[in-house]
Amino acid sequence: MEVIILDNKTDIGLAIAKEIIKDIKNNPKLNLGLATGSSPLPLYKSLIELSKLENISFKDITTFNLDEYCGLSNDNKESYHYFMNENLFKYLDFSNNSHYFPSIDNVNNYDEIINNHGGIDIQILGIGANGHIAFNEPNTPIDSVTHITNLANKTILDNSRFFSNIDEVPTKAITMGLSTILKAKKIYLIATGKNKAEAISIMLKGKYIKECPASALNLKKDNVYIYLDKDAASLISK
Ligand code: GLP
Repeated sequence: MEVIILDNKTDIGLAIAKEIIKDIKNNPKLNLGLATGSSPLPLYKSLIELSKLENISFKDITTFNLDEYCGLSNDNKESYHYFMNENLFKYLDFSNNSHYFPSIDNVNNYDEIINNHGGIDIQILGIGANGHIAFNEPNTPIDSVTHITNLANKTILDNSRFFSNIDEVPTKAITMGLSTILKAKKIYLIATGKNKAEAISIMLKGKYIKECPASALNLKKDNVYIYLDKDAASLISK
């Protein structure tokens, strides 16, 4: 696991976008695992800008999103389908049918769909203040595959900022499991802000602690890159 501390989220987004573009130049057909939330937004902005600048095509790229709420239609403004379309997909030349999301319909074979495409080459991750990755909440089994989950109260509270009131936040979601995520060939996790500092300090203790799902990344030896700003890095023990 490599930890990279940069000044701010814009610098983080740009640094990871450059790495992704480099990989796409080597393999224009790669499979991208994508995350939602505020953390990857600067990355998506840089990816759009750099791709236009360098004439990079996404027509042979396939995307696999980490998670989606249960009970929201795809055109609901808080759905992750809507988020991805508004913040990334509509700006690039992706082909039709190149985007996959876990859903009620494919929950039992989402992992198989990913495997049949050759696996995820690059997985982007954020982290919840409670240490969740995707919607793998504390104590999710390490061998979990894509599944339906109940959201933790902390997650419902944190995500209520996007909804007009807390009762509108879905209480269930469909998420890649921890074992699904760990199979990705390369992982970039982005964390910024003081509210992520505690989860980051636990994750960076170097071992898997089931109460902090992000710490499962310690079980993957290579190609895990943790990008932090100074606030998110502020509790890392020396
Ligand atoms: C949601 C998503 C996660 C994301 C997390 C953090 O719960 N399911 O994938 O990492 O929020 O969001 P943010 O980056 O906005 O802090």
